[in-house]
Amino acid sequence: MKYLNKADPQVATLLKAEQKRQATTLMMIPSENHSSRAVKKVVGSIFQDKYCEGYPYKRYYQGQENFDKLETLCQERAKKLFNVPHANVQPLSGSPANLIVYFALLNPGDTILSLEMAQGGHISHGLKIGISGKYYNSVFYHVDKKTGIIDYDEISRLLKEVKPKLLIVGFSAYPRIIDFAKISEIAKNSDTYILADIAHFAGLIAAKEYPSPVPYCHIITTTTQKTLRGPRGAIIMVTRKGLDKDMQLAQKIDRALFPGFQGGPHENSIAGIAVALKEASSLSFKIYIKKVLQNAKILADELIKRGFILCTNGTNTHLILIDLRNFKILGNTAAEALEQAGIIINRNLVPYDKNSPFYPSGIRLGTPGITSRGIGPTETRRIAKYISMIIKDVAKIKKQLKITSEQEKNKDVRKKIIQNCKIIKIIRKKVKQLCLLFPLKKEY
Ligand SMILES: Cc1ncc(COP(=O)(O)O)c(C=O)c1O
Repeated sequence: MKYLNKADPQVATLLKAEQKRQATTLMMIPSENHSSRAVKKVVGSIFQDKYCEGYPYKRYYQGQENFDKLETLCQERAKKLFNVPHANVQPLSGSPANLIVYFALLNPGDTILSLEMAQGGHISHGLKIGISGKYYNSVFYHVDKKTGIIDYDEISRLLKEVKPKLLIVGFSAYPRIIDFAKISEIAKNSDTYILADIAHFAGLIAAKEYPSPVPYCHIITTTTQKTLRGPRGAIIMVTRKGLDKDMQLAQKIDRALFPGFQGGPHENSIAGIAVALKEASSLSFKIYIKKVLQNAKILADELIKRGFILCTNGTNTHLILIDLRNFKILGNTAAEALEQAGIIINRNLVPYDKNSPFYPSGIRLGTPGITSRGIGPTETRRIAKYISMIIKDVAKIKKQLKITSEQEKNKDVRKKIIQNCKIIKIIRKKVKQLCLLFPLKKEY
């Protein structure tokens, strides 16, 4: 730190402020996590100073003896952990990883079948205003309006109707187990490739606490920074089923990545991924993931008990999605009020939301981050109580101040609601005390 203080006091000040923010608030955005010190050490190391275009032992630059070994080690760890014959660890992040798969398999205009973003899908799965929706013909399936569960019958129907070249399963805001076997059965007579984007569930799958898509899908993409608790990065994997369908699949993916899409890989991130994969294969990681799931279940049960409506009526993953329409407040107001109390979550669309993504009717929260700092069932129950108290109070204040939903879209109006919510200050103190009791561990 002393070097940074001297070299760039402005950035040093921001770093210190961020350290304080993370130490004194609860990380409850389900796509975030506290990576280990070992991961951070290699990501910030001299591994980042080298250009390594190409693949191990087939590079375009000299001086690769350590990087060839490093990247091969990372590939081998990914293959072993997820039980796949091929892993490419070079994608810079999850969205590019998905685009690389499309580029490898599709021609512009070909059809992708995926879950609509507004119902839990991801922007890189064919959102019409994004690159994947503009270059490819994206068609969407949905969740059942009543249960919130993926409508497998609709997938079956659309597979016959639109004959997609690629079917994507795996989501950003879906709190349930995906029935990969059913997907595979439905797609049995179709010529489609099946891509499982396990970005959210990768850690759960590594810990064998979520079914693996490997026997049922052809390609798998994942980010490495979420439940897997690694650095920012991604992996594209090809399964045996994928190679059975297309012997050239691994080469197609590799060539689509380089030279098709990216230049030099970020070997410092690859080093971080290698470390995270080793950590994720340990018994302590399995125990950690079990605790993540236990905390998420407790959070869901406690909130339901207090009158909250959860999409799919609960969770069996690390995340929950709350539909706030019964409280008649926007996700924005809830997220901003909770932030003032030190509970950091994100606003989110809920299935069949009539609102826009900027002013959605829900919030999404999860337990990977708080579990990494050692928070357990008792404290999670307490956090659920705090969340409930704050949301109910802001809803009451909005009503008392006779603020309409249209007026609530104004940031200053939301500020006024939050300023009137006196319990936030009290809960902020309690959250700080909780954070002190569970400091970010030395290794996290
Ligand atoms: C399912 C899914 N796929 C892909 C991504 C994209 O990852 P990145 O933000 O690293 O581009 C995300 C990120 O939230 C995701 O949830």
